[in-house]
Amino acid sequence: MDVVYAGDRITYKVIGGVLDLYFFPGPTPELVMDQYTDLIGRPAPMPYWSFGFHQCRWGYKDVGDLEAVVAGYANASIPLEVVWTDIDYMDAYKDFTLDPVNFPAEKMKAFVDRLHRNAQRYVLILDPGISINNSYGTYKRGLEDDIYIKHGGVPYLGQVWPGNVYYPDFLNPATTPFWSNEIKTFRDTVQFDGLWIDMNELSNFITSPSNVNSTFDNPPYKINNSGNKRPINERTVPATALHFGGILEYNVHNLYGFLEAKATHQALLNITGKRPFVLSRSTFVGSGKYTAHWTGDNAATWDDLAFSIPSILNSGLFGIPMVGADICGFARNTTEELCRCWIQLGAFYPFSRNHGDKTSDRHELYIWESVAASAKKVLGLRYRLLPYLYTLMYEAHLRGVPIARPLFFSFPRDTNTHGVYSQFLIGKGVLISPVLTSGAVSVEAYFPAGTWYDLFNYSNTVASKSGGNRTLSAPLDHINVHLREGHILPMQGEALTTQAARNTSFELLVALSGTGNSSGEVFLDDGEEAGMGGAGGRWSFVRFQTQRAGNRVTLTLDVTNPGFAVSHGWIIEKVTVLGLKNRSGAVEIPGLHLLIGKNFTLDLTAHH
Ligand code: NOJ
Repeated sequence: MDVVYAGDRITYKVIGGVLDLYFFPGPTPELVMDQYTDLIGRPAPMPYWSFGFHQCRWGYKDVGDLEAVVAGYANASIPLEVVWTDIDYMDAYKDFTLDPVNFPAEKMKAFVDRLHRNAQRYVLILDPGISINNSYGTYKRGLEDDIYIKHGGVPYLGQVWPGNVYYPDFLNPATTPFWSNEIKTFRDTVQFDGLWIDMNELSNFITSPSNVNSTFDNPPYKINNSGNKRPINERTVPATALHFGGILEYNVHNLYGFLEAKATHQALLNITGKRPFVLSRSTFVGSGKYTAHWTGDNAATWDDLAFSIPSILNSGLFGIPMVGADICGFARNTTEELCRCWIQLGAFYPFSRNHGDKTSDRHELYIWESVAASAKKVLGLRYRLLPYLYTLMYEAHLRGVPIARPLFFSFPRDTNTHGVYSQFLIGKGVLISPVLTSGAVSVEAYFPAGTWYDLFNYSNTVASKSGGNRTLSAPLDHINVHLREGHILPMQGEALTTQAARNTSFELLVALSGTGNSSGEVFLDDGEEAGMGGAGGRWSFVRFQTQRAGNRVTLTLDVTNPGFAVSHGWIIEKVTVLGLKNRSGAVEIPGLHLLIGKNFTLDLTAHH
């Protein structure tokens, strides 16, 4: 379809399918997301570990190369949670196989075991195209099960990395068990923790001859394919190909990635019994119920750094809150400066992964000293904020509200926020204002009304009664991150893995509003049980609140399902209060031993 937006109207020009229009009355942006995801499916809960930092690259040569990357991060003391392999690990680009020379099974097993012992994880890529090769089990089982997309009565012949391929038809009910079985068998060899499903638009390296007389292959209205009205069959599966039950590709083209994500999610859930992590390139309405998303092949340019913000915000609005862009840029050579700014921003993407193309220079975060230093600083803050990010995941799963949000979510009445796309919010009250241009040592940023506290230096504040633009200093190693008054952030200690961070005690950062009120919450579970916050689940939800009575400000904790938190023994060791009347700067209340899970009241004004 072509969708044309012209300020006061929107035009849909569709060449097929069923067009359903729904209107979600809101009236708030949060309620629109709640109503929308009630219809299309709530965002899938993501495992706690997936909020750690991920490193990927197309072009890792062998297991030794992977080991060197892990060591590079460890030596630089930069958090690394997940190592990824791209298509390089496969034997001749066949899914569910390992390159026997560079990624042999025994070495891969040992590598993944070592990662797991170190509380790190491993994710690998799968492509939909199955190599046509009579000595390849997956291919043969696919033929036996008769699960490939058909054209002219035989499986449709496409071409991707391995050369000739057939594509599994995820509309066929037999495909999910086939796919699941292949995943299971392969996982018996390598214990991967998540799956990355790529090329599922469907991507094809050839354009098959079209029947020009068919209104499916060659519809009379030319949609603006690829921005210049290319034929709809170009480099994909032809519109006249057939899916299970005689359904034309024409009518389900956009659903391939969605259905693959659904099948992959289901397979991982059945095999592991744990919360699946799936990352998909192609998505459709409802994909968020099954998968995370990355914004595809960006380039190492300042423009693409800037575009990543509206891209991830849009994904959140489409109901896919777990989203990120390739940090430091996928295509082309990045630079030290760009890579540094990119990790400063990318540390605050919900899904934070560095990934690069095999033809471009490497850009792991330890390669440049200044990038490494920035990475430690910003990922350090990210890991301290993990309880907050994870609680936002819970909120997203419960009510569809994105993790990374446009400013208008929290300030819908402030019309100045409506067009802001070079800053964003994490949750309700954490504002990210990144450097997006080369050579900049300051940023122009919009601050809605209220007092905002710099999360790296609490005594730096921005305050205004009605909101306005500010010029913030942005030295090379710095990104501006501010917390708005009225919010309480649950934080934990810095660490190199999410597991280590989870074992540290909590700190509450309380930014009092002018009236002395503030609130925040934290959701706690084991981070990997299949459901999130469901009936009978092992979880706790804690709400923190402050209140002022006269000169006294008290903090109270109110917990739902206390058992889980208590059994874990998590404690709050420190409360830091910002915005106390007659006190300048932050008031720290250390040395506490408050069990999360037990209701309490703490007088914040009794400490000096
Ligand atoms: C295309 C994907 O978008 C990219 O991330 C990946 O590295 C290549 N395919 C190779 O698998």
